[in-house]
Amino acid sequence: MRVFKKFNYMSKIRAAITGVNGYLPEYILTNDELSKMVDTSDDWIMTRIGIKERRILKGEGKGTSDIAVEAIKGLLAKTNTKPEDIDLLVCATVTPDMQFPATANVISDKVGIKNAFSFDINAGCSGFLFALVTASKYVESGTHKKVLVVGAEKMSSIVDYTDRATCPIFGDGAGAVLLEPTYDELGIIDSILKTDGVGRIHLHQKAGGSIKPSSFETIEAREHFIYQEGQQVFKWAVSKMADVSEEIMERNHLKSEDIAWLVPHQANMRIIEATAKRMKLDKEKVMVNIQKLGNTTAATLPLCLTEWEPLLKKGDNIILTAFGAGFTWGSIYLKWAYDYKK
Ligand code: UT7
Repeated sequence: MRVFKKFNYMSKIRAAITGVNGYLPEYILTNDELSKMVDTSDDWIMTRIGIKERRILKGEGKGTSDIAVEAIKGLLAKTNTKPEDIDLLVCATVTPDMQFPATANVISDKVGIKNAFSFDINAGCSGFLFALVTASKYVESGTHKKVLVVGAEKMSSIVDYTDRATCPIFGDGAGAVLLEPTYDELGIIDSILKTDGVGRIHLHQKAGGSIKPSSFETIEAREHFIYQEGQQVFKWAVSKMADVSEEIMERNHLKSEDIAWLVPHQANMRIIEATAKRMKLDKEKVMVNIQKLGNTTAATLPLCLTEWEPLLKKGDNIILTAFGAGFTWGSIYLKWAYDYKK
C-alpha cells in the first residue's frame, strides 16, 4: 500500500518559479538616435522617464513569438526541461503576432511543445502578473505540473516614431518563467489583481479592432499606434501601484525589512520611486533596469527576475507589482524557491 507522508497529504500545493530566462533583440535604440527622429533630448527623457536606451527587434517577418521562443528555448535548456513535458503555456502580450490565433499557440509550435494547451492574456503592462496568477491556479489545483509563463512584446510594431510623447518609452523583449508544484511554503503566496475599464480612454490603440477595422483612413490618421494621455496614466499608476503593494504587505503582515526585493513594472523611474517610497524600501532592494530596456510592457517583470536571478536566495520575500492599459494593476507576493546555480 502506498503511504502518503502526513505532511504532504495535508499541505496545500503552491506554484513556485523554478527557472527564469529572458531574451533581448540585439539592436540598441539610443536617446541620441531618437533625438534625430523627433524633437527630444537625452536630458528630457532621462529626467522625465529615466530611459537611456531600449532594444528593437529588426528583420522582415519577425514578431513577438520569435522573441518569446528565444526566451523559452533558453529557459528549457537552463532547467533541463523537454518541450514535451510542458503541459500549459500562457503568453502575456499586447503585440500578438496576429489578431488570431493566439501567439501562445505559435510559440508552442515553434518550440515543439506538443502536449500542452496554450493561450494569450492581454492585460497591458500588468500582463505578466495576470498570466502568472492564472497559470499558478492550474498548478495549485494539482492538474498541471510544468507550466510556462512568458511576457513578450514587439512594442516597436505599435510605436509611432513621429510622436515624441510615446516613442522614447517602449522597447522590445521577452521573459519567461517555469512554474512547478511544491508542498513547501515557497512560490506564490498571495496576489491582488484589479481592473477598471474607465481607464481605457487614456491608453489604447484606436483602430484595427472590431469597432474600427483597418482602412486607408485609419492608417492615414496613424490610429494603429499607441495612444497615451501620459499625465492621466501617470497619476493612476503612481497611486494604484503603491496602494496595491501596501495592501499586499499589510494583509501578509510584511514590514519593509521583511522584503528582500521589489520587482516593479518599468514604465517610469518616478513611478518606481514613488512605489518604493510608500513601501519604505531602500533603493538597493528595488530592481530597476529601465535605463537599459525602457518599458517592455508584459516583459518587464520576468526580465528583471532574469537579471537579478544570481542574487536571489531561497526563501526571499519578493513583491511584484505593475500598472497598465485597461486599466489593470496588481501585486504578487512570492517566496523565491531556489538558490542560483551557474
Ligand atoms: O506602462 C504603461 C503605463 N504607462 C505609464 O505608466 C506612463 C505614465 N506616464 C508617464 O510616464 C509620463 O506622463 C510621460 C513620460 C509619458 C510624460 O511625462 P510628463 O512629465 O507627464 O510630460 P507631459 O506629457 O506633461 O509633457 C510635458 C512637456 C510638454 O510640453 P509643454 O506642453 O509643457 O510645452 C510636452 O510637449 O514635455 C513635452 N514633451 C517632450 N519634450 C521633449 C513630451 N514628450 C517630450 C519629449 N521630449 N520626448
